[in-house]
Amino acid sequence: MARSGGRAFIKRLVAKMTLEEKVGQLTMVSAELARTGPTFAPVTLDSVKQGRVGSILNLWGRQRVRELQRIAAEESRLKIPLFFGLDVVHGYQTIFPISLGETCAFDCKLWEQTARAAAEEAAADGIDLTFAPMIDVSRDPRWGRTSEGPGEDAWLASRFAQAKVRGFQSRSLGEANAIGATAKHLAGYGAVRAGLEYAQVDVSDRRMQELYLPPFRAAVDEAVAAIMPAFIDLNGVPMTANAGILRDIVRDQWGFAGVMISDYAAVSELIAHGVAKDPAEAAALALAAGVDIDMVGGTFAKGLPQALERGLVTIGAIDAAVSRVLELKAKLGLFDDPYIRCTEAAAPKPDDDARRKRRELARQAARRSIVLLKNDGGLLPLRGGGQTIAVIGPLAAAGAELAWSITGPSNEAKSILDSLRAALTASAISFTPGCEIDRIDEGGKAKAMEIARQSDVAVLCLGETPQMSGEAGSRARPSLPAAQSELALAILALEKPVIVLLYSGRPLVLPDELAAKADALVALWFPGAGGGPAVSDILSGDFNPTGRLCMSWPVDVGQIPIFYGQRPTGRPASPDDHFTSKYLDLPIEPLFCFGHGLSYGRFEISDLRVDRPQLRAGETLDVEADIANLGAVAGEETIFLFARDPLASIARPMLELKDFRRVALAPGERATISFRLATDELRFLGPDFLPKLEAGSIDIHVGQSAARDKLLRARVTIVVEES
Ligand code: NOJ
Repeated sequence: MARSGGRAFIKRLVAKMTLEEKVGQLTMVSAELARTGPTFAPVTLDSVKQGRVGSILNLWGRQRVRELQRIAAEESRLKIPLFFGLDVVHGYQTIFPISLGETCAFDCKLWEQTARAAAEEAAADGIDLTFAPMIDVSRDPRWGRTSEGPGEDAWLASRFAQAKVRGFQSRSLGEANAIGATAKHLAGYGAVRAGLEYAQVDVSDRRMQELYLPPFRAAVDEAVAAIMPAFIDLNGVPMTANAGILRDIVRDQWGFAGVMISDYAAVSELIAHGVAKDPAEAAALALAAGVDIDMVGGTFAKGLPQALERGLVTIGAIDAAVSRVLELKAKLGLFDDPYIRCTEAAAPKPDDDARRKRRELARQAARRSIVLLKNDGGLLPLRGGGQTIAVIGPLAAAGAELAWSITGPSNEAKSILDSLRAALTASAISFTPGCEIDRIDEGGKAKAMEIARQSDVAVLCLGETPQMSGEAGSRARPSLPAAQSELALAILALEKPVIVLLYSGRPLVLPDELAAKADALVALWFPGAGGGPAVSDILSGDFNPTGRLCMSWPVDVGQIPIFYGQRPTGRPASPDDHFTSKYLDLPIEPLFCFGHGLSYGRFEISDLRVDRPQLRAGETLDVEADIANLGAVAGEETIFLFARDPLASIARPMLELKDFRRVALAPGERATISFRLATDELRFLGPDFLPKLEAGSIDIHVGQSAARDKLLRARVTIVVEES
């Protein structure tokens, strides 16, 4: 830490501060350049000058940032710099795929690279801290924020969290091109009742510990700068006031020394939750739980002085929070140079080399996040062989919208239609939207059917707009909008080859007939600025798809929540026995399971082997299997390693992801894939919630997805020496 930000410096600074200045450091105010929540009074120059504001959100652009920073760092009494936070979620200028899509790349290096690129762009434009990564595990596609997160698995979400924190924060937060990361939203937000945004969460301690908390632990271990508690109440205790999690677990047990930033107005919402009667009580509850910064709403500003008077908080607790905020500013290099991320130097040109590279990265990231769900009869790739192609659908010509972000330029993303036209020059491509997102008329439908009839193949570009997911984007029916289903079924009735491309912020429930009859189905998610070209790369065969689902894809809404890591039931489903665990009206398996994803080839894995039959604490297990590319094209396969404890002191999930590998093989090529599994990975929380390695068998499964019937299996025995 720089000298000017050392402990003694901070202590001296805190000693000089008035109560108003202290509370100012704990207050984040919106500049309203973008709106990411309800309106409150925006920041004023006076409030900055008087030290009543410690940080700003929703302001960017070097000049604008510099101007406010100058007032704080040069004109306020104590000259304490501000920091500037923003939702830099899937890119800043260069827009990458949404996190749900990017997670499907199963590529830690890519996750880190895109975060790095976003940080470089954001830092060059005045941003010190991002409210990302969002690492809420979600098993409920009704919840709109599923789009912002890493899918259904805790282990995978933890790897995603670490990669993102590393990417944003770089080697040191004090570097001019590093920004602080915020792990959000602690924790369990993905379990909101029936997928309803901002709703209550009732989950067991075990589910919390095993599923929702581990990604945050991983982020803390990676020295994440900040954590944001979720809007929810957990089992009746709003997370913003949840001392049991924020303070006892995260701060005390895990040793998190960074800053806790409330979500947008969440401190004031403690009143609406019904646990605080006024701002003083709300502020006292949040501070006591461990919240350091009140993001908008002004409840700390209003409530903390009163809370102090009423004896609800101590000045020591306020000082501790202020010190943490000042330490963050010091780590961000702001005491050494308040203008570190808003220098006066000319802004980099949009066409400079670095920017070009980042655009290429966006295309790669998009290619790697797209998942080929179905490809009957090898309809894809189209191979540019001069077919006539009917491109249909309300999203075919959409560009910018699908690479939506607060700050990204709106003119950079090329639509699927334009990209296909540029790539498949030997093909005759006709286009009509056919319908709107959720409105159809007979004329539009008839035109679409007409061009489909006259073509060799129809490419349907369907799905959601980005506004249909994300914050406040819950959908009770997370399905393909009815107008588009009607259009798709009309085209499918023509019995032509049909490729369905789906834009969505979640696994989208599809009409049974569409899922059954479409020859090819491709999940695009929201692929960002490189999306259009990425789709044409895949459709033309220039890129062999590699994406794998990080979230199970339900057949219908009634299966939700659906995920691969379920515990065994006492009555496993049997078609011959009525009294077993199944639905009368739906299958119990998802339409596509976790890890599913096709490529234009065929990979086969065989000969799973482990290097020892027995394993003791502290030892590692080497696991190997062979893989062969039996297809005609070069490609890349993702291989998953799962473990299963078939007999333990508590029922364990049927599969638990422990690792994955990606391997690229030429046609006919073979390779050996190897994993190294530490016994620590096989520990679980026993009945007493203490981590435990239990003696007995462990099944090691290796395969191409979580489809249990296709996994290879080896068994090892854990030997625990009695002490
Ligand atoms: C509310 C969202 O829940 C959070 O994720 C975001 O960072 C803040 N708004 C700030 O925009």
